[in-house]
Amino acid sequence: MTAATTPDVIEAPVYEGDPFAMESLLDPHKADGEVREMGPVVYIEKYDYYAITQFAPMQKALRDFRRLGSGDRPFYEDNPFRPKVLVLEDPPSHTLSKSVVMSVLSGENLVKFEKYFTAEAERLVDELLADGPVEIDAYHDLAVRYVLKVFPDMLGLPEDGRELLLKFGEGVFNVFGPASDFQREKLALAAEAQQWVEENTYRDRQDPNGIGAQIYAMVDEGKLEEEHARQLLKSIFAAGFDTTTASIASMFRAFGDNPEQWQLLKERPELLKDAWEESIRYYPASRYGGRAAYEEVVVGGTRIPKGAKILTMWLGAGRDPRQYDNPDEFRIDRDMKKGHLSFGFGIHTCAGNLIARLEAKCLLRAVLERVDSIELAGEPRRAVAYQAFGHEYVPVRLSPRR
Ligand code: HEM
Repeated sequence: MTAATTPDVIEAPVYEGDPFAMESLLDPHKADGEVREMGPVVYIEKYDYYAITQFAPMQKALRDFRRLGSGDRPFYEDNPFRPKVLVLEDPPSHTLSKSVVMSVLSGENLVKFEKYFTAEAERLVDELLADGPVEIDAYHDLAVRYVLKVFPDMLGLPEDGRELLLKFGEGVFNVFGPASDFQREKLALAAEAQQWVEENTYRDRQDPNGIGAQIYAMVDEGKLEEEHARQLLKSIFAAGFDTTTASIASMFRAFGDNPEQWQLLKERPELLKDAWEESIRYYPASRYGGRAAYEEVVVGGTRIPKGAKILTMWLGAGRDPRQYDNPDEFRIDRDMKKGHLSFGFGIHTCAGNLIARLEAKCLLRAVLERVDSIELAGEPRRAVAYQAFGHEYVPVRLSPRR
């Protein structure tokens, strides 16, 4: 049904602010919350884009992948930080790409990697607690050290230069947004890392036991072209490292701010999985996604014209009071059946969600088994980025269990 045939469809309210202004980047929950409360769909005048802001209309809209496609997203222009496959594809090409990637990021590989992730997590936490109570930066000492080891190992990448991945995120997390000095600085910071990723996604750089080699094996089986395989590998790179480190560090910040939730998890360890889900609802690593209206559509009773580019505001939707009671509280015993959109929804749901969940679960379990209390040991510092939510510093005090 189009808006023209439906009398009660309204035009989107106009938002005159700028979701990419520094004020908004510094306090994204406040900024995106204000936009969300204007209506389920808002017109962002400054960029001539629409935004879908509330949980239920967004979830419904994301099912409508034929009319709300991905081939022409906001701020799209060719860029090395934005692989052309997967996120920017529609069916039928998206279907092939997704099935290849899902075949290596699920199933037997999960069983294989769980043992390895657990061993690495336990080794790291034992090392950190070797001398008793300790103050650490949960971003660098826990999230980065752990993910920088297990994620490239899982892919089968060389050891040399891995630390450059830390800078790659500056590109990935800032390419989605308007051109500005801020963006140029971030992309410049990431240039060397981009070069490293470029070089290390070729077939001859892959460890035979890694996921990269498994993807290239599908080329030999005639399932896809060589360059397609490389782009898929790049896509896993671009999406899988910084999102996971950011989410893990944010989770420890949430526990640091809410030490009673750690005590609750100790009393009820069966909440471990829910604790992680709640932490990525509360602090989603990905603030925005994008779509384009291939036809006129009505979302939440509001017209979005054909040709419109659309922001999906995941972060604001995660705090939608229509979906969650007291959404600004971090509560690990929340009813998680309500789900969240922090891994997206619909055909573009995060291809690495099972891997990210596994990485987080193994680390959180290792910490839970060893740590009696977590408290903030200073003021955390946010990492400021166009499209992401994360921290660059999360000082916490860990006291080991006796
Ligand atoms: C907590 C960590 C993560 C978060 C919060 C996250 C978030 C997201 C979101 C929101 C999307 C949807 C984009 C959209 O619809 O526009 C997405 C897609 C994707 N993610 Fe993740 N991600 C995480 C970890 C990972 C990991 C570990 C990998 C790879 C191992 C990965 C690979 C991908 C890929 C390939 C896509 C594109 C899927 C498609 O377009 O069909 N992600 N992710």
